[in-house]
Amino acid sequence: MSSNIDKLNESIAQAKLGGGQKRIEKQHQKKKLTARERIEYLLDEGSFEEMGILVTHRTTDFGMDKEVYYGDGVVTGYGTIHGRLVYVYAQDFTVFGGALSETHAEKICKIMDLAMNVGAPVIGLNDSGGARIQEGVRSLGGYADIFYRNVKASGVIPQLSAIMGPCAGGAVYSPAITDFTLMVEGTSYMFVTGPNVVKTVTNEEVTSEELGGASAHAVKSGVAHKTSANDVECLEDVKSLLSYLPQSHKEKPKDLPYHIGDEFRDVLEKIVPDSPNKPYDMHEVIKGIIDEESFYEIHKEYAENIIVGFARLGGRSVGIVANQPMFLAGVLDVNSSRKAARFTRFCDSFNIPLLVLVDVPGFLPGTDQEWNGIIVHGAKLLYALSEATVPKVTVITRKAYGGAYDVMNSKHIGADFNYAWPTAEIAVMGAKGASEIIFRKEISEAKDPAKKLAEKEAAYAEKFANPFRAAARGFIDEVIPPRETRRKLIKAFRMLEKKDVSMPPKKHGNIPL
Ligand code: COA
Repeated sequence: MSSNIDKLNESIAQAKLGGGQKRIEKQHQKKKLTARERIEYLLDEGSFEEMGILVTHRTTDFGMDKEVYYGDGVVTGYGTIHGRLVYVYAQDFTVFGGALSETHAEKICKIMDLAMNVGAPVIGLNDSGGARIQEGVRSLGGYADIFYRNVKASGVIPQLSAIMGPCAGGAVYSPAITDFTLMVEGTSYMFVTGPNVVKTVTNEEVTSEELGGASAHAVKSGVAHKTSANDVECLEDVKSLLSYLPQSHKEKPKDLPYHIGDEFRDVLEKIVPDSPNKPYDMHEVIKGIIDEESFYEIHKEYAENIIVGFARLGGRSVGIVANQPMFLAGVLDVNSSRKAARFTRFCDSFNIPLLVLVDVPGFLPGTDQEWNGIIVHGAKLLYALSEATVPKVTVITRKAYGGAYDVMNSKHIGADFNYAWPTAEIAVMGAKGASEIIFRKEISEAKDPAKKLAEKEAAYAEKFANPFRAAARGFIDEVIPPRETRRKLIKAFRMLEKKDVSMPPKKHGNIPL
């Protein structure tokens, strides 16, 4: 008996050393924490319960029977973050470079199954050289077992992926299916094929960092939702993100205690400039509306003409989708439509109400946009907002032009409450463009065409560059002074708290992909 206890203690001590002290030091030299250190930092102190610490691989080829490590390159289990249950796995780069074997995959699948059965988030800390090369197809099967579970869990429990080292080849598809991918700058990268293969196939010279580093995916591809300077910041980001989310699709996010305070915010009165062509920062509007310091931005550096992120309004979690006049005048284009559609669907899956802030001059014109399928991508946002059944509230701060008016959570596609500021312009297009089309003949025949255009423009603007026609039709429920926006929104979302709407029964919709 005592020899078994000794054996157990010895095995656990060995497991905790992963691939050994030398490899741990190498990990630290790369400014990376080890898998166990990451879990310790992520979870509430002392809350981690490990599963499968004694699991070992079953491979005998290539001398692998002599190279056996307890845990097989991944630490798995459950614990709490701010008192809430989460399941976690952390790949251990010190063991075969965190490469995924059949048994390594089985450990991950086991906690994913538990998370699904219980209804709690799964957090994956990825740091792996990919498929365990010595295992061949068994390793590939292991990946597919994880992907399949990722898909089944999608919309059931939140799934978060932190990329804290290499993530290449097939390994990228699990994070891609999960809800959010966070990357660490300088030490993580993701790509389907690495620089060597790229060089062979396309003759391009590119480094790992350029090809798939945190910045490439945060700015260019949009694969990364958030990046951070180091492991600790990344884990902090995971914790904060989680605080806006519920445990599963059956729950609502947890409210924070909230005291009614300064509900009227005068700062909002001064943000929209007098000239419709002058930009302003929609972040200022968001800041003026939400609870202080509560904005958690997603995809901050990607498709900056739209802003998406979580915030708290009166202590409650909301998802915000907002046009950003500072970039491309806030137009909808391929990337901004995809970004906003994906975020909208996440919020709807997990009962997070949506606030849509509108200042949109329309869709971005051009061959690039048309040939890249703006029709289909724009339709994604239209589809996502239309099918969302969570409470949906809109505030039009300035422009709501053309088809983009419809798309941006208009009354017609099921928004529950639509506000407009007195500065709102709800029209088919801007006054200048409209006048040039409908008064073309009159203007060209005038003695002074520029003067005529200015006259016509002013007349059109007088008629349509306001929210009152839309309000008269009931397309806007209320025109409100900006300073009252926060108070109105808190009340509207409370009023909508018990909203209970569902889409017609179906297998699933066919969102234009
Ligand atoms: N399968 C098995 N072992 C692997 C592995 C894999 N896919 N990837 C890395 N390892 C092992 C290495 O053999 C090394 O073992 P050692 O500590 O006993 O020497 C250890 O993990 C660390 O790898 P190393 O190459 O020294 O680390 P690095 O930081 O210099 O490079 C990678 C990391 C991921 C770029 C590099 O290991 C690599 O290219 N791996 C293969 C990637 C791949 O092609 N995967 C399969 C397709 S998905």
